Amino acid sequence: NIERTLVLIKPDGVRRGLTGEILRRIEAKGYALAALTLRSADDELLAAHYAEHEGKPFYAPLVEFMKSGPVVAAVVEGHRVIEGFRSLAGATDPTGALPGTIRGDLGRDWGLKVQQNLVHGSDSPESAVREIGLWFPGS
Ligand code: CMP
Repeated sequence: NIERTLVLIKPDGVRRGLTGEILRRIEAKGYALAALTLRSADDELLAAHYAEHEGKPFYAPLVEFMKSGPVVAAVVEGHRVIEGFRSLAGATDPTGALPGTIRGDLGRDWGLKVQQNLVHGSDSPESAVREIGLWFPGS
């Protein structure tokens, strides 16, 4: 069963010029890009996207970070891509993320309040549908 997932290249990834490298890894794994855009996220979009994290200590720094520059949003398609992209991305904390993963190879702790971990990927089929609807309304 073909799935779709929402991938974000966060502002740290775009700022560091890693967009091509990250998209290359997704395509090299064999997944297809079904939609792709560069945009700046506003408070309304981020509040909806990160609703489950509201109230956590890193929520405000996370929203500020996500507004600090443009984000690349993509719909990525393939069999079991939700699990597959999370495996490509590696663990949330880039310090411990395994080498070979996007976060493990390209990310690290910069001593900031929020984990700047380069990418986001939907964590379940329900999240994927919800997040694709937020970032690509009308798709
Ligand atoms: P993501 O999985 O895309 O969604 C939540 C984000 O919050 C996560 O990536 C990190 O960027 C950030 N985050 C999650 N947990 C922490 C934490 N304990 N401290 C700081 N930032 C975090």
